[in-house]
Amino acid sequence: MRPLMILAGLLMAGSAVAQDAEALKIDTRKQAMPVVPKVVGMMKETIKAEGHAGAIPVCKEKAPSLLKAKAKELGWNMRRVSLKTRNADRATPDVWEATQLADFNIRAANGESPASLEVGEVMTRADGKQVFRYMRALPVADVCLGCHGGAGQIEPDLQAQLDKSYPNDRATGYSVGQIRGALTVIRPLP
Ligand code: HEC
Repeated sequence: MRPLMILAGLLMAGSAVAQDAEALKIDTRKQAMPVVPKVVGMMKETIKAEGHAGAIPVCKEKAPSLLKAKAKELGWNMRRVSLKTRNADRATPDVWEATQLADFNIRAANGESPASLEVGEVMTRADGKQVFRYMRALPVADVCLGCHGGAGQIEPDLQAQLDKSYPNDRATGYSVGQIRGALTVIRPLP
């Protein structure tokens, strides 16, 4: 093959991957994201019925277990990550995730709506298998402030509970519209 033809072939292969990534991003969003409004709705209802302290299990157990159940159903890996974790054991990002979270903050600072920040990439793992990695920002809403807000927004009783359960809590001091973290997905490709 002549060099130009090789170049054309490479460009075409490149755009096929880009198209696949775009289609995968749309499909991954469609399948993974409905868990988020479900958790937020549950959070609002529980806070109304039982106050903030009563709603701790929604962010602590319900959110991770709903994500786990959905991931199991799909055969994917799904969890929450943050650059300022409350539960570092569960939510510490890997290098790729930390890079994307930092990029989300930059994109938001440049005017992108935090609610629609997402990224998706086809990657080859060390064992040679391909995966699709997807992340979507989780922005701070009013309902989050009682447990992730600044001084004065977290009730003293609740603060005492948080201090006890999470001595290294870094997930406070947020305001509405900031990025609390992200939903992260690893989807095996055939
Ligand atoms: C009732 C208290 C409460 C409210 C309200 C709350 N959270 Fe949380 N959040 C927690 C607790 C407790 C954890 C630690 C969970 C764990 O142990 O894994 C947490 C953890 C998280 C994490 C996982 C990363 C980390 O820091 O460990 C994310 C992401 C998160 N919250 C986002 C939100 C968002 C977004 C909202 C609002 C829609 C919200 N939370 C509202 C209590 C709350």
